[in-house]
Amino acid sequence: MTTDTTSLQLEKIVEEAEDFLPLLGTDHVELYVGNAKQAAHYYISAWGFQPLAYCGLETGVKDRVSYVVEQDKIRLVLTSPLVPGGPINEHINKHGDGVKVVALWVDDATKSWEETTSRGGESCMKPEVREDKDGKVVLSGIHTYGETLHVFVERKNYNGIFMPGYRAWNPSYKAPEVGLKFIDHMVGNVGWNEMNKWCEFYAKVMGFAQLVSFDDKDISTDYTALMSKVMSNGNGRIKFPINEPAVGRKKSQIEEYIDFYNGAGVQHIAVATDNIVETVTALKARGVEFLYVPENYYDDILERVGKIDEDLALLKALGILIDKDDEGYLLQLFTKPVLDRPTMFFEIIQRKGARSFGKGNFKALFEAIEREQEARGTL
Ligand code: FE2
Repeated sequence: MTTDTTSLQLEKIVEEAEDFLPLLGTDHVELYVGNAKQAAHYYISAWGFQPLAYCGLETGVKDRVSYVVEQDKIRLVLTSPLVPGGPINEHINKHGDGVKVVALWVDDATKSWEETTSRGGESCMKPEVREDKDGKVVLSGIHTYGETLHVFVERKNYNGIFMPGYRAWNPSYKAPEVGLKFIDHMVGNVGWNEMNKWCEFYAKVMGFAQLVSFDDKDISTDYTALMSKVMSNGNGRIKFPINEPAVGRKKSQIEEYIDFYNGAGVQHIAVATDNIVETVTALKARGVEFLYVPENYYDDILERVGKIDEDLALLKALGILIDKDDEGYLLQLFTKPVLDRPTMFFEIIQRKGARSFGKGNFKALFEAIEREQEARGTL
C-alpha cells in the first residue's frame, strides 16, 4: 500500500501505545476443529508443520484431544471434543472449524490479566499455574471479538516441549518445512459498525495503537466493500487488522464470512517467509489452493511498484502479488478458505522493507475473491 505517512505512523505508535501489556510475540493459535487428527495431518503434509505435542486420553484428558504442530516460531494447536455436548462442540456447531484462541506470549500472565481486566477486558480465565516435571506455565485470558479468546502465556519457568499436560508427539510420518517463519499479522472480521468498537477495545484494554486506516472508498470493487483498521502493540510484534463490511452493490465478502461463521472471528492468518517463491512453489506442489490472480494484474505492475529483485515471470506464474510503500515493497498471496465453510484462509507474505499490508492489492484481491463468491452463489 502507498500511504506516505506509514513510517510516521509507525514511529508515532511506539510513543502512543502504552506498554502496560508488553507482548513478546504470538505464543500459539488454537483452532477448534471437527477432527484434530486429520487436521494435524493436513498441516503437516500440506504446510510443512512439524509434529510437536499431544494431549488426550493417553495423557489423562477425557473430554478432548489436542495436537500441536510447529514451524519455526509458529505453533498451531488443533483441538477436537471426544464427548457430546460442551463448549467445544457448541463452538464447532455454530462456527465450523475456526480459531478459538490467539495466545500471546508474555513475561507475566498475572499482571497481563490484571492490567487488561482492570481496563474493561472480560476475563475468560483467571491466572492459573500449570506444573509438571519441566517447570510451570502461568495462563490467563480475556474475551475479544465474537467467541475468540486471548490467552496470556507465561513460560519463563518452563523447559518442557509445549505445556504441562502435553507429551511429546513424534509420529514416524513427517514432511519437510516450507519456510514459514512467524505470524506477521492476524485479521479479525467483525459485524456491521463494530470495527471502531473493537479498535477501541485493543486501544483501551490492551494498549494498542492504530497503524493505518482506510475506508470503503479505498477498498471497494463493483460489488463488495469493507472498512479496515490495523491495531498494533507497542513493539509492533503483534498486529491485528480489524475489518467490517461496508455497503456495496452485492454482498461484502466480510458479510459472507460473518454469515457462515455465525459472527465475528479470525479471517486470516498471515505467515511470513524469507523466500515466497520457494514457499509458494512447495505449498502448491502439496495441494494448497491459492486465489487466482488475473494475468492482467501484472501488465502495469512494475510501473506501480518500481524495481524488484525477483523474476517477474516467476511471480506471475505463481500468482504472487506485489505492493509497495515508502519503505520498500512486499510480496503476498492468499489461499482459498482452508475449511469447509468459506471462512478462514492464510496469507503468505514476504516483506522487502515494506511494513504495510498490501492495500494496493486489496482491489485485485477482492475481485479475485468475488469470482470465488460468484462460483458459490453467495455474491
Ligand atoms: Fe493480511
